Amino acid sequence: MTKEELHLRPRHCNMYESMYGSDDAESSDEVGTNLSKAERERRDLGTEFVYGEVTYRTMARLLSHVLRKSNRRGSFVDFGSGTGKAVFSAALLKPSKFTCSAGAEYMESLHDHACEIRDKHYKTRVKPLIEHRYPDLKMPSIYLERSDFRAHRWSEKLSDAVSDASVLFAHSTMFDKSMLSHLAKITQDLVSNEDTVFITVSHELPSSSRWKIVDELFLDMSWGGCVVYVHRLKK
Ligand SMILES: C[S@@+](CC[C@H](N)C(=O)[O-])C[C@H]1O[C@@H](n2cnc3c(N)ncnc32)[C@H](O)[C@@H]1O
Repeated sequence: MTKEELHLRPRHCNMYESMYGSDDAESSDEVGTNLSKAERERRDLGTEFVYGEVTYRTMARLLSHVLRKSNRRGSFVDFGSGTGKAVFSAALLKPSKFTCSAGAEYMESLHDHACEIRDKHYKTRVKPLIEHRYPDLKMPSIYLERSDFRAHRWSEKLSDAVSDASVLFAHSTMFDKSMLSHLAKITQDLVSNEDTVFITVSHELPSSSRWKIVDELFLDMSWGGCVVYVHRLKK
């Protein structure tokens, strides 16, 4: 890493790496990929469940970009949250912008891993440490649920988080059209704020939905560079 890149490194990256237990946690998706592969083989699941992760650095760039004009404190929601890297990055990178950071994940092993990170690290060590250091700061709560976002009814807690969202996120590279269309439809009816953004990876939300692209960025994921779409609801 160059000196310049080090300088760009956001403040809580060490904390994040310590939660995931290794120095290269920022860019390595090995743990999640192995868990996902084993469960996919055991349950004979399709390619929509193929795993990959957003990096902490990419989340830093993305959140700074989409929240630059926002003064509102709302929730962050990740559809298909894996081991929780987007959920915990959002909480550590923009604690004053998010009340809650939430994720819904279908795979049991990935969901369990994310819950372990929340219980062993975030709740007991990281959150108290940061709040002790910055007494005026209330760190976001973490909500993780094991669910299938293709379901027609979402849990009350997930629906509430979406309704209050500032940022919705789907690392959707392997999602098919029907999944994106379902996500677009349910969220457009639930979201209560017109400033909410919905970020998708590699594929845009269907143009027939009320979500319209306002930005396109080229960013790195654990598996390589790709286009990231930022949408807002049409007024
Ligand atoms: C590319 S991974 C992204 C993980 C995490 N969001 C990140 O960026 O680091 C996509 C995740 O979506 C999950 N997924 C796929 N279809 C899903 C569904 N219908 N409901 C919930 N999770 C789903 C997969 O199991 C996988 O963990």
